Amino acid sequence: MTHGEIAGVGGYLPGRVVTNAELAQTVETSDEWIVERTGIRERRIAEPFETASYMATAAARDALHHAGVDAGEVGAILVATSTPDQAFPAVALRVQAALGITGGFAFDIGAACSGFVYALAVADRLMQSGGLRYALVIGAEVFSRIVDWSDRGTCVLFGDGAGAVLLRAVEDPRRGILSTHLHADGRFGDILYVDGGIGRPELPGTVVMNGREVFRHAVAKLTDTVTEALAANGLTGADIDWLVPHQANLRIIEAMGKKLGLPADKIVVTVERHGNTSAASIPLALAEACHDGRIKRGDLVLMEALGAGLTWGSALVRY
Ligand SMILES: CC(C)(COP(=O)(O)OP(=O)(O)OC[C@H]1O[C@@H](n2cnc3c(N)ncnc32)[C@H](O)[C@@H]1OP(=O)(O)O)[C@@H](O)C(=O)NCCC(=O)NCCS
Repeated sequence: MTHGEIAGVGGYLPGRVVTNAELAQTVETSDEWIVERTGIRERRIAEPFETASYMATAAARDALHHAGVDAGEVGAILVATSTPDQAFPAVALRVQAALGITGGFAFDIGAACSGFVYALAVADRLMQSGGLRYALVIGAEVFSRIVDWSDRGTCVLFGDGAGAVLLRAVEDPRRGILSTHLHADGRFGDILYVDGGIGRPELPGTVVMNGREVFRHAVAKLTDTVTEALAANGLTGADIDWLVPHQANLRIIEAMGKKLGLPADKIVVTVERHGNTSAASIPLALAEACHDGRIKRGDLVLMEALGAGLTWGSALVRY
């Protein structure tokens, strides 16, 4: 049976850097508070032209270039995003058109910060059902457009960007995506949500979060999902070469590293420089560590994420 392996990775970040000190000029916060509680030092903020589709397309081009594969080979495009350019068409269709692709299919996935893990799992299962040779799996977000810039509890946390993975179908079960594990529990929909938008036209909609509750669920549920990924493959934490976690908070990332018994230099961390880029954070971190040579072909990479919904999940991949 075929399944997906990573042929190439790519990323895109807006050029504009916003430091904690800059935020402290507009809301009552400090670099010290933000660094101590989250690990974040700066984030990238999109200019008006840098929409989810613009950034997703740039990240996809980077991944195609890295793989040495022509866009015409791509049979499916999946974009994980909570901040699409428009309600429709899907960002994935905008990417398809921008890349000059006219065949195959394309759609968006909404699973908030777990979106990339969800999209990776769906693309892998599509490849398992046969007939799909290459798929682009992208996370692209412009949270700067849905953050309440007067709420210090949330505006300091998020950033913009996009990351992409080009999946190729392979037969060898020892290569590529070894397993994916997805979960959702809608009972926790009110601890992290957008309070307006299409369903409530009287409100533009900004991010509302109970940070402590999200933190508590993140540590517990991410522990469960990395444990199940290891168990499904008969592995222990010692077998993992790299943890590429969703980048929400350095304290959550470090807690997961500790559970797995991984030293800090085996965990890819971008949250200090990117903030939380939601569905884009894992593919951005992956792209950075593959491009700079830290993650090498054959390395075992564990990814995990939790997001609004709640949604959470993990993926174990032989790069
Ligand atoms: C958001 C988070 C950093 C807040 O840290 P915390 O230690 O839980 O802090 P609290 O929310 O309890 O707030 C503590 C105090 O700091 C204040 N505070 C909140 N944001 C602040 C900021 N940016 N600067 C300064 N003070 C701030 C609060 O108002 C509160 O003050 P009070 O005690 O006078 O009411 C933390 O809860 C977190 O990271 N949660 C997970 C969030 C997450 O991962 N979200 C995305 C999931 S995909």
